[in-house]
Amino acid sequence: CGTVSATAMALSSLLLLLLLSAAHGAAAPPALGFTRSDFPPDFVFGAATSAYQYEGAVAEDGRSPSIWDTFTHAGKMPDKSTGDIASEGYHKYKDDVKLMADTNLEAYRFSISWSRLVPNGRGAVNPKGLEYYNNLINELVKHGIQIHVMLYHLDFPQVLEDEYGGWLSPRIVEDFTAFADVCFREFGDRVSYWTTIDEPNVGPIGSYDSGIFAPGRCSDPFGITKCTAGNSTVEPYIAVHNMILAHASATRLYREQYQAVQKGVVGINVYSFWTYPLTNSTVDLEATKRYQDFMFGWTLGPLVFGDYPQVMKTNVGSRLPSFTKSQSEFVKGAIDFIGINHYYSVYVNDRPLKEGVRDYAADMSVYQRGSRTDPATSEYAPTAYPDDPEGLQFVLQYLTEAYGGLPIYVQENGKLIYFLATPISKLLIQLFI
Ligand SMILES: *[C@@H]1O[C@H](CO)[C@@H](O)[C@H](O)[C@H]1NC(C)=O
Ligand SMILES: *[C@@H]1O[C@H](CO)[C@@H](O)[C@H](O)[C@H]1NC(C)=O
Repeated sequence: CGTVSATAMALSSLLLLLLLSAAHGAAAPPALGFTRSDFPPDFVFGAATSAYQYEGAVAEDGRSPSIWDTFTHAGKMPDKSTGDIASEGYHKYKDDVKLMADTNLEAYRFSISWSRLVPNGRGAVNPKGLEYYNNLINELVKHGIQIHVMLYHLDFPQVLEDEYGGWLSPRIVEDFTAFADVCFREFGDRVSYWTTIDEPNVGPIGSYDSGIFAPGRCSDPFGITKCTAGNSTVEPYIAVHNMILAHASATRLYREQYQAVQKGVVGINVYSFWTYPLTNSTVDLEATKRYQDFMFGWTLGPLVFGDYPQVMKTNVGSRLPSFTKSQSEFVKGAIDFIGINHYYSVYVNDRPLKEGVRDYAADMSVYQRGSRTDPATSEYAPTAYPDDPEGLQFVLQYLTEAYGGLPIYVQENGKLIYFLATPISKLLIQLFI
């Protein structure tokens, strides 16, 4: 997900690598009861990092701050951690790629720090940033590891945030497209898998509704901490609207200027969990469908069908931006694959739509819980997440059927680790949605 604890990142990477070595190990018996040959040859095993959680070196070689540097340096993380050092990937990438190769990792997803590559947000490319990503990519090529690049993983350049409020402004579309252009132009001879934005259906909730992600905006009564500015009821919808337009713009640029030669693909990532109806009553079946439309349809509806799901338009009303006819045509079909992050499943039942001021969670009007027998937990995500590997299969089937059979890449998957043993359960809950 989008949390910034370097420890958690390292832990999950380590777990993944352990699992991979178990899966590949020729000498050691496979701990998981399967081996590589149990999977089709074109099934690719990989692992993922994000720039701010991995690189460190935040003030080196011309990188400018992102909104996450500002946020963590203001002491906004519950454990006061920052990404200043993180996993030191900026300096240790060669060792890490060697570890990946030693573990028989077949694919690697990483993200590009916009403020390292283009420190002013637009314009001049930072030669040192360019060199770092070229080196990393070349190292992966050398080891035959398939490269998946995430263009944007939460770390918006602070300079553009200051200038126009980042994703809240339509001006982002032009700047994001120009940043994507640099990446396609410089790296596209070696990179074929481009994902534009990580978890547009979750990040903006943390950033603009609960306020627990940078830039930490929210309004009463929705913020988890007191925010100095923001509007929880509208800003997440505005940010996602601009993300969809920015994604489509970058995708169309790639198709027009690069795809014929580079032969790559461009997709977007969505956070996913599987949703079981708690009962088979009509209202619970509808609530489950509604949840899927809010979770997947928010992003994929416009990109596949040209508009938001009807239930979002109904429940959110005028707070949901609308696409003009030409915007609708522009975004529709601007997607080659779906990337998903997947961790758990929930049980959903109907919750009557609240009167008065609502945010995204209230607009969805559901209760949810981690198992059939758990008590219902507020409108937010449940407090416990039992393992449910089958849920991943259901998500894959659902997305294939509901969104036109696009190829799907599982870009994150694993078991949730509770790394914050503090009495802030609501925060913990929000961290994972
Ligand atoms: C949020 O925006 C809506 C729509 O513009 C407005 O009605 C509401 O008063 C705003 N809320 C806050 C807290 O500013
Ligand atoms: C709902 O119906 C399906 C299909 O008949 C069944 O498999 C499932 O167990 C039912 N769920 C509940 C909670 O009764």
